[in-house]
Amino acid sequence: MTLSVAASLALAQDAPRSPVLFNPQNAAQLEQDSRDAWQKPAEVVTSLELRDGDVIADIGTGSGYFVPYLSKSVGSAGRVYAIDIQPEMLAFVQRKVAELNLNNVTTVLSQEADTRLDRESVDLAFMVDVYHELGSPGSLLSNIRTVLKPDGRLTIIDFKADKAADRVGPPLSHRIPKERLIAEVEQAGFELTETIELLSYQYFLVFTGKPAAPAATSIGSQ
Ligand SMILES: C[S@@+](CC[C@H](N)C(=O)[O-])C[C@H]1O[C@@H](n2cnc3c(N)ncnc32)[C@H](O)[C@@H]1O
Repeated sequence: MTLSVAASLALAQDAPRSPVLFNPQNAAQLEQDSRDAWQKPAEVVTSLELRDGDVIADIGTGSGYFVPYLSKSVGSAGRVYAIDIQPEMLAFVQRKVAELNLNNVTTVLSQEADTRLDRESVDLAFMVDVYHELGSPGSLLSNIRTVLKPDGRLTIIDFKADKAADRVGPPLSHRIPKERLIAEVEQAGFELTETIELLSYQYFLVFTGKPAAPAATSIGSQ
């Protein structure tokens, strides 16, 4: 039996994957100076055109590599929720936040499919190198859809699944091809609004929630 592309994608999204979580004992690896050259954290954050007062959810924050850049970009009236399912990662972030005296950052211990944020409270959900670790991306994406404000955005950066981009990052077999990721995220109620060409080893995508379908009207209703 052969399946259509759409049917295969539906099955791929429903079937839980076997996630391999980044080992918190290696959190310092995420902070290596050599990463800055290809990760371009300041340029990544600048390209998102954040505003003073914005609320950001850094989902899968890890060591909080992006946290100082995000914190600066939203100012003292804004807030960065540094979210992870591994408490050891959050302990690492808390030390960094204290050292750098970042007053607009809150750490949140989340669950695999639940960011534990309030409904319609977030301007930007930001996920870097996390998607390929998700066991059930559809469930987490549904939660993200509910916590985003109506005009909120979801940014996903993850490793390209081609040999040419293999110099850094997880093994090729753990990566999610860009086209498959886009199809899965769109299936969860988002639409791709921007592809930012900045990074050599990762794709950088911006999504917004699809408008809700208009309620069906019954024949004869006015
Ligand atoms: C490779 S690290 C990336 C960390 C950080 N975003 C960065 O770019 O340096 C992936 C992180 O995502 C976290 N993670 C995996 N699944 C998650 C989920 N469902 N919700 C929140 N965090 C998750 C892991 O615990 C890990 O800390």
